[in-house]
Amino acid sequence: MLAKVISCAVVGLEGAIVEVEVDISPGLPSMTIVGLPDTAVQEARERVRAAIRNSGCVFPMKRIVVNLAPADLKKAGPAYDLPIATGILLSSEQVYADVSQTIILGELSLDGSLRHTNGILPMVALARQEGISTIIVPEADAKEASLIEGTKIIPISSLSQLVSHFRGEIPAPEYKRDEVEEYTPPASSITDLAYIKGQEHAKRALEVAAAGGHNVIMMGPPGSGKTLLARSLPSILPPMTTEEALEVTKIYSVCGLLPSDTPLIKQRPFRSPHYTISNAGLVGGGHWPKPGEISLSHRGVLFLDELPEFGHAVLEVLRQPVEDKVITISRAQGSVTFPANFMMVGAMNPCPCGYYGDPFKQCTCPPSLVSRYQRRISGPFIDRVDIFIEVPHIDYEKLADDRLGEKSDKVQARVNAAHSIQQKRFEGTKLSCNTEMTPTEVREFCRVEDQAQSLLKAAMKQLYLSARAFHRILKLARTIADLENADIIKAHHVAEAIQYRPRSLV
Ligand SMILES: Nc1ncnc2c1ncn2[C@@H]1O[C@H](COP(=O)(O)OP(=O)(O)OP(=O)(O)O)[C@@H](O)[C@H]1O
Ligand SMILES: [Mg+2]
Repeated sequence: MLAKVISCAVVGLEGAIVEVEVDISPGLPSMTIVGLPDTAVQEARERVRAAIRNSGCVFPMKRIVVNLAPADLKKAGPAYDLPIATGILLSSEQVYADVSQTIILGELSLDGSLRHTNGILPMVALARQEGISTIIVPEADAKEASLIEGTKIIPISSLSQLVSHFRGEIPAPEYKRDEVEEYTPPASSITDLAYIKGQEHAKRALEVAAAGGHNVIMMGPPGSGKTLLARSLPSILPPMTTEEALEVTKIYSVCGLLPSDTPLIKQRPFRSPHYTISNAGLVGGGHWPKPGEISLSHRGVLFLDELPEFGHAVLEVLRQPVEDKVITISRAQGSVTFPANFMMVGAMNPCPCGYYGDPFKQCTCPPSLVSRYQRRISGPFIDRVDIFIEVPHIDYEKLADDRLGEKSDKVQARVNAAHSIQQKRFEGTKLSCNTEMTPTEVREFCRVEDQAQSLLKAAMKQLYLSARAFHRILKLARTIADLENADIIKAHHVAEAIQYRPRSLV
């Protein structure tokens, strides 16, 4: 007899319907899975066999063929265990149920209990989109599934529970959505700006960067506080909208990085990959393309500490996603696009010894070494940076000063105000902050007063700015003006923006 169960695959970040067809016919006992399964799906045979037996049911000693349709879509991961088991039980007439309006998914243990499954969020989104009324998920994932409304979610803890649900013995109750509680990270994980002494110039730059989502590079001698400053950035970032939070959660769900106690990621991500990272680790890739660090920092911060150590090639692959805010990975089977709208923050020493240009300590590097070190960061890469700041050595007087600086929540309040101006400005468009403006929006929203106009003209000539740099200055000036709640960009806004222009390195 033939049975059909609906399940779901995840392609990139989107769900796709997969029909699991199970046919049982007389013949030598065997079980074959067809329809482009990967190893994890192939291994479902062993898990399903044991799980059915350990759930008080009978594994049919007949010829079983499982087809995962559409046949040309690759199927990866263990989420097909439960639909295959259900298909076998339906086909062998051990249970009777109408599952034509139900998506079933979940990984089985040998004892028949259900495990957490990755990528639940895109699958539930698909169920709603396709108008499928019910989705059966592992109990551990019910909270995550409930983030998307409009679908009936039935959490199941084991195959035997599902069997008694289908037999009508003990119907499994629908999951009751509760208000998603706010996630606040433990206080110790965030550095407050108040505890960082001096470096007012850098703090201001970070405030501007956070307000408009601009890229930043910090350069300075060892121990001046660059890493500290970058790590304090999450404490001043504006909150995400629910839509943005769902986007981020989807990525983490697909990568299996969603903590089970936080169904919705509300905090902007802060990723700081080590410089030994590979290209694929950074931008995403692999045989079955997975999001990389740039997508994991979507709507948040990608912190590249010790920037020149990343190596020329790795930094160059960042050039395109920094501009386009998405990354498309093409493989023989097709291409997938992942979002990568992140704020890039880099920290670097000016030379291998770290003291080039320091007024107090002599640099010991030969000049050729300094320029070779700095050349690891190419001109086009630097051109994509909005804010370049020097973080100088900090002296004893400032460090020993007991007075605290301005608290992060005060800075964040200003950032939030500037952010809401931008949200209002870009209402109805796909943009969310100033840095994302295209030349069309720059023309529309970056109106500059006359005095600022002549300042820009002079800067263009003297600094030999590229067209991209010109637009970046205007966008940065827009953010600085937003922080002052100014409608028109004035000369001092432009002046501050020009001052953040990346200097050509040695
Ligand atoms: N401005 C500062 N205020 C308070 N403490 C500071 C400051 N700068 C540095 N420190 C102290 O020095 C330590 C090292 O700072 P940090 O790691 O930020 O240096 P860095 O600039 O990243 O150096 P490197 O170039 O070697 O990576 C901090 O953990 C902190 O204890
Ligand atoms: Mg550091």
